[in-house]
Amino acid sequence: MCYVVVGKAYVEGAVRDVSILVEGGVIKSLNAKPPEGCRVIQFSKRHLVLPGFVDIHVHFRDWGLAHKETLAGGARAALAGGVVAVMDMPNTRPHIRTAELFRKRLEEGAGLPVIYRLHMGVPQDLSELAKARPSTVKVYPEDVASFGWPHIEALLSECSRLGCTAVFHCEDPALFSGPSRPPEAEAKCADRAALYAKMGYRIHVTHVSLPYTVRALRGLATLDATPHHLFLSSDSCRAGGLCRVNPPLRPEEQRRELLSLFLRGYVDMYATDHAPHTLEEKLSQDPPPGICSLDVAASLLLRLWRDGLLGLDDAVRLYSHRPSSFAGVSTAIWPGRPANFAVFRLEEFAVSRQDFRGSCRFSPLEGLRAFGRAVAVAAKGALHLLESGEVVS
Ligand code: NCD
Ligand code: ZN
Repeated sequence: MCYVVVGKAYVEGAVRDVSILVEGGVIKSLNAKPPEGCRVIQFSKRHLVLPGFVDIHVHFRDWGLAHKETLAGGARAALAGGVVAVMDMPNTRPHIRTAELFRKRLEEGAGLPVIYRLHMGVPQDLSELAKARPSTVKVYPEDVASFGWPHIEALLSECSRLGCTAVFHCEDPALFSGPSRPPEAEAKCADRAALYAKMGYRIHVTHVSLPYTVRALRGLATLDATPHHLFLSSDSCRAGGLCRVNPPLRPEEQRRELLSLFLRGYVDMYATDHAPHTLEEKLSQDPPPGICSLDVAASLLLRLWRDGLLGLDDAVRLYSHRPSSFAGVSTAIWPGRPANFAVFRLEEFAVSRQDFRGSCRFSPLEGLRAFGRAVAVAAKGALHLLESGEVVS
């Protein structure tokens, strides 16, 4: 039960030659002479071993929505993108609002080849939180609309007692008018989240889409931004229903400003909000919101490194180190740590349908320039060689 990965790796802030010995899923050494009987996998100079990426916002669907995506399909998308751990969202059918459903879903996720974590949904009966003991609770605008802010405030206080973090999809539904979600809805929620944070509650705001939100919450709450809000705008995205997402894509000028804040380190994490729907649904008259990106998100981030806009250390911090501590997993390439890493072939490419491995094989991100393709992923005791389909352990 051992293997050795030989090549270049990003270890503790520097790129160096390594020979990573993994035994029983644990890194034993970084410069090992391969012991007898261990499979040796040699990578070329054009490959780089990186700490595994961790995505704190995905929708693996299944449960009543398996026609859009399944847990297994979502895990394939993750591996294709060099992602070793995910935090899944609770808006399945039924929505995960009880300790029983929370545990059931975690049990199913435990069988996946990637590390599986789950955000709990807002319970109607807040005593479910003490039973489920989630590390995070996801608050949707729909929860605010149906339960009201006082219920969310009671949740915050229960969460602070139990040590959980409230993860906000931050748009105030009071400002929605029909299907329109104006930027003021996010700004108003950001102001409210800032107040909550100042009261001492632990808040994470996911998929920030406005520079305003970043400025209002920086230093108070943790924040993440998605590839679609960083790389697509309402001006540039021309694929109709495929571009529909919540919060909506913003005008080009705001997208650029958001990207600039992201590049300057004002956003804590990068997370996809990978939200699969069928192509038929996305091309219909009333397309559901959501964009798929998990398979290519790391490659889009690494393109910023390739272009000299971001350091490799920044890319690793944004999509591995910070989210791994948020999710409570280890991705450090270091002896004694579990082998959660990904090997990327350093090549440029334009995102295309062939790059998607889950159920969702289309995305308005198609055509964007990307850099680095995952060719091998070590997670949960196995090394997945993506091009041959082999699994080494
Ligand atoms: C989400 C989904 O499809 O689950 N879609 C999205 O655009 N982010 C739901 C939502 O956040 O409203
Ligand atoms: Zn989402």
